[in-house]
Amino acid sequence: MYFTTTRLHQELAGGTFVDVIIDEAHDAQSLHPFKGNVDLQKLTDLIEPVGAERIPYISVAGTVNIAGRQPISMANLRAVYQLAETYGIRIILDATCAVENAYFIQQREEDYSNQAIATILHEFCSYTDGCTMSGKKDALVNIGGWLALNDYNLYEEARNLIVIYGSYC
Ligand SMILES: Cc1ncc(COP(=O)(O)O)c(C=O)c1O
Repeated sequence: MYFTTTRLHQELAGGTFVDVIIDEAHDAQSLHPFKGNVDLQKLTDLIEPVGAERIPYISVAGTVNIAGRQPISMANLRAVYQLAETYGIRIILDATCAVENAYFIQQREEDYSNQAIATILHEFCSYTDGCTMSGKKDALVNIGGWLALNDYNLYEEARNLIVIYGSYC
């Protein structure tokens, strides 16, 4: 599901946004424990006709702001990662509330109730290729955030954009 400014920047960069969240996320009455899950069928149905080479990344959010900060399960993110890997598509996580998401996994997902939040978060992030984070939510800072990437060349490309959109100071 979209997040306002994230979607705007994707579209300003020439991208087309497509929502692939499960239907339960759109149903306020649903008590599904992980309404932030990606619908793997919707995702496959999108990748096949569009072509993996035209999808720069899958944007996953944990938790999903516009769905009322609903969480995504570890099992679902792992499955999305495995699917993305077969097509060679990156997963970029909006980790703004990933600590909160880890808490929901601990509370609601089998096998995680005895694990520390940090351990859950570490596994969660291992199913991604990078992430953005607004520091103003879970991290409780006044302003700022960060981008992290596993790919050094991509990191260099992103760093060069700081000259345009940020500042050396
Ligand atoms: C999930 C998520 N991503 C990104 C942002 C944008 O953060 P910022 O205001 O630091 O740019 C927000 C802000 O509410 C958010 O909730």
